[in-house]
Amino acid sequence: MATIRQRDSKVIWHPYTPMKIWPEAIAIVKGEGVYLIDEDGNRYIDAISSWWVTLHGHSHPYIAEKVSKQLTVLEHCIFAGFTHEPAVTLAERLLDILPQGMSKIFYSDNGSTAVEVAIKMSLQYWNNKGIKKKKLVALENAYHGDTFGAMAVSGRSVFTEAFTDLLFDVSFVPFPSKGNEQQSIDALETLLKTGKVAAFIVEPLVQGSAGMMMYSPDTLEQYFQLCKKYDALIIDDEVMTGFGRTGPLFACDHISTQPDIVCLSKGLTGGSMPLGITACAQHIFDAFYDDDRMKTLYHGHSFTANPIMCTAALASLDLVLDDACTKSRDQIAEAHKTFAAGIHDHPLIGDIRQTGTIIAIELKTGITSYHNNLRDELYRFFLGKRIVMRPLGNIIYILPPYCITIAELEYIYGCIKELLYELQAKQASPTH
Ligand SMILES: Cc1ncc(COP(=O)(O)O)c(C=O)c1O
Repeated sequence: MATIRQRDSKVIWHPYTPMKIWPEAIAIVKGEGVYLIDEDGNRYIDAISSWWVTLHGHSHPYIAEKVSKQLTVLEHCIFAGFTHEPAVTLAERLLDILPQGMSKIFYSDNGSTAVEVAIKMSLQYWNNKGIKKKKLVALENAYHGDTFGAMAVSGRSVFTEAFTDLLFDVSFVPFPSKGNEQQSIDALETLLKTGKVAAFIVEPLVQGSAGMMMYSPDTLEQYFQLCKKYDALIIDDEVMTGFGRTGPLFACDHISTQPDIVCLSKGLTGGSMPLGITACAQHIFDAFYDDDRMKTLYHGHSFTANPIMCTAALASLDLVLDDACTKSRDQIAEAHKTFAAGIHDHPLIGDIRQTGTIIAIELKTGITSYHNNLRDELYRFFLGKRIVMRPLGNIIYILPPYCITIAELEYIYGCIKELLYELQAKQASPTH
């Protein structure tokens, strides 16, 4: 009988996969806590939370139970002209924990759609007010998703190259790397001074896809203050950072100035189902609240606010807000810190950085890019160690489910040390 892997190769086209170069896919038959188990019985530690979504571990029984019950009550319902308990309760509960000033929740399906909605909300906001502001500003190398609007506000890269001339014009400010913060802040201010900026969109504190690039809360605070000063909207894209990845529930909780719009997805349902949220402040909603139908936000998806997904999100919230989750996040952060302190002087480490539960190690190879050749070697090395790790070029990172134990983290750290040792030995060998 053919394996799942063999059947897959005949019928599936995988995301972000050069199918000719990388035809194999590992067939996972079960998820259990931090582990993914394949059809041959191998157990892999999911060190990257399956593309940053899994918060509490795979197949969490509490989420499964709640979802299973909801399936027998209401599985789906059109969300224009109708509503339901899970959507309303989730909105109420999210507004309780989101940055102050958020007052309405708009549902969609994933991170990219949450961003699309944020972009449309902010552009139409100014349009509805009769004010000409159409410019969007983002950080260099940003990643906000794969739909066209989300691609437009993302850095121009290999991901967007085939579509570059079709993407609307966005201004990018330099990334605030250490020592260049002021340059980045000044560049934003110069753009804001034109009075044409509709919104500034940003991944707060950590640019994920760019290579877990990190910057300080102080810089984020200054960006936000400038946007307020020059009356540009702030879109806080917490799709990756939301629900405790950086320590507190949201990355913008590290600062005091509030955004106007917040995008959430990934960990929102604990990673069990796709759901996107665009939360906004009252003044945004008010600009659409009018007798004139032309001021309506004409956006929606078939599965908007699906009750099963909302139920999964409510169950995940119960778990996130439990003290045990805060404790786990603190433990992960502490373990990362100790590990980083122990290896940061290693000659092959260009940079090691950490924000909350995320740690990234940039290996010295000369070039830093997604297509760094080393990437495939690293990927295979960790798979061989039964760890799911998707290096971003020469950058390896751990972004684990919160249920990971210290022993499991220690195992990953040990494998990273072994990798460094192997790479060093290779470099030292005369045949290298
Ligand atoms: C900050 C950020 N925004 C948006 C997205 C897009 O989310 P999705 O993959 O669910 O469309 C991502 C995905 O990695 C992300 O990291």
